[in-house]
Amino acid sequence: MEIEVLAPSAGAAVIERVTGLVNEVYAEAEKGLWRGSTDRTTAGEVAGFVRAGEIAVAFVDGDVAGAVRIRRLDAATGEFGMLAADPARRGLGVGRELVRFAERVSRDAGCREMQLELLVPREWTHPSKQFLAEWYGRLGYRVTHRADLAEDYPHLAPSLATPCDFLVYRKDLA
Ligand SMILES: CC(C)(COP(=O)(O)OP(=O)(O)OC[C@H]1O[C@@H](n2cnc3c(N)ncnc32)[C@H](O)[C@@H]1OP(=O)(O)O)[C@@H](O)C(=O)NCCC(=O)NCCS
Repeated sequence: MEIEVLAPSAGAAVIERVTGLVNEVYAEAEKGLWRGSTDRTTAGEVAGFVRAGEIAVAFVDGDVAGAVRIRRLDAATGEFGMLAADPARRGLGVGRELVRFAERVSRDAGCREMQLELLVPREWTHPSKQFLAEWYGRLGYRVTHRADLAEDYPHLAPSLATPCDFLVYRKDLA
């Protein structure tokens, strides 16, 4: 497996592939949370992240096997999001290596902490979210903030199919 940050000049094909992968896995991972078929992202948005040097891709045998967005929130804090592994290659360590890569990039940039956000339904348990909460815990992440999504992001409230909280997780990179 090879992981690299996509160059700002990356072509449309890889951007389309990353966009399709993220939307495919989030459709399943966030099933029941949103009204209708709300795509997580668009090729235009991903292209912007690529131009900013924020998209890392895991390649296996030359194919896109996973992706993650890595960015700096402030001088001391890195963040990863939009983590996705190809369902055909689950359980092979693609997700774990992408998280490790995001942490290394952030540490090398001088960050002392890593952050991620997780959207969870408030009144029921979603198996994908349950898995992620346990896995992030095993990776050393702890919940530092819990908030009502509709209160903090009112523009998203009409799109929600069920009340949701978003959890902020943090991990010390030292
Ligand atoms: C989260 C995700 C990226 C993990 O990708 P992956 O490549 O399958 O994960 P890995 O192979 O690196 O395994 C990660 C962990 O899950 C465990 N795992 C993997 N497949 C499993 C399975 N079928 N059953 C139980 N545990 C499993 C592994 O043991 C590993 O745990 P460990 O690190 O403690 O050993 C992937 O499931 C995904 O794309 N999910 C949908 C998108 C999503 O929800 N993204 C995050 C939003 S915040």
